Amino acid sequence: MHKTILVTGATGTVGKEVAIQLSMTDDIRVRAGVHSIIKGENLKRLPGVEVVEMDFKDKNSLHAAFTHADKVFMVTPFTSDQVEMAKALVDEAKKADAKHLVKLSVIKADTEQGLMLARWHREIEQYIEDSGIPYTFLRPSSFMQNFINYDAASIRNEGRFYHSTGHGKIACIDVRDIAAVAVEVLLGSGHEGKAYELTGPESISNQEAAQIISDVTGSPVQYVDVPADAARNAMLENQMPEWMVNAMLELESAYSEGRFSNTTHTVQQLTSRTPHSFRQFVKDHQDSFE
Ligand SMILES: NC(=O)c1ccc[n+]([C@@H]2O[C@H](COP(=O)([O-])OP(=O)(O)OC[C@H]3O[C@@H](n4cnc5c(N)ncnc54)[C@H](OP(=O)(O)O)[C@@H]3O)[C@@H](O)[C@H]2O)c1
Repeated sequence: MHKTILVTGATGTVGKEVAIQLSMTDDIRVRAGVHSIIKGENLKRLPGVEVVEMDFKDKNSLHAAFTHADKVFMVTPFTSDQVEMAKALVDEAKKADAKHLVKLSVIKADTEQGLMLARWHREIEQYIEDSGIPYTFLRPSSFMQNFINYDAASIRNEGRFYHSTGHGKIACIDVRDIAAVAVEVLLGSGHEGKAYELTGPESISNQEAAQIISDVTGSPVQYVDVPADAARNAMLENQMPEWMVNAMLELESAYSEGRFSNTTHTVQQLTSRTPHSFRQFVKDHQDSFE
């Protein structure tokens, strides 16, 4: 019988890519858990993919989504109730007797406890460890796709993008490589009980990222470094909730200090493929920046 793998957050940046890459493998039924059926419409066209509506705050919908799921790829959104929602998902996975839970976490979840994001993810990881469900944690660095989701509009409109990372280098990763690791971990063996720190192949500053985007698009792009106080005011004026502003600024400060600049070889080791460079990422998504 085909195994069923539930992917939560399947319309999001990582979940969608995991559903796409899983759909290319044989003998797997992918259950794409979507918050909104309309947003998940395109996923229905992928081979072997069924779409289920799933609200992390609605126990009935969770119960339905986890029924007969053999394995789970678990994404929870970057919201203030992320920990609570994740714990509800783990409880359902336990009830459904899931055989493997692969959790999207964050790099240095266990060592950067001064950062809100790392603390939250580690709390979820510990809840999973205590649940007794066989697990694997994927701990990626900052996504290259953040440049599309958060910076591309100002790059297109003004030829600039804004952060508070100084000259700090970041070993950012292409989400396609996180998904490739997820597929290997879900379908391969021997990954239970492991935590994998995932980065791209190089570490670059935002100044270097701007230069690469300029080279690829042929239009000048400038990185503007914004003092933390000014960044805080701008984010609050844009209606960003205060907890999120604090989380973003402490992260950017850590980036500026180079605390997320180390690269790992894990993607290469697990997938036998070199992870995408930032230049390749920009080439593959050139339209987003023009
Ligand atoms: N961005 C980074 O650089 C980075 C790096 C490392 C780790 N992370 C971690 O990655 C995770 C986010 O992954 P992502 O970027 O793929 O997320 P995303 O693109 O924001 O997608 C979140 C998904 O969750 C769904 N969702 C939101 N609220 C829901 C609810 N109440 N019930 C059911 N589904 C719900 C969303 O659907 P709707 O849109 O329809 O609501 C969407 O499909 C976070 O845990 C974050 O801490 C991010």
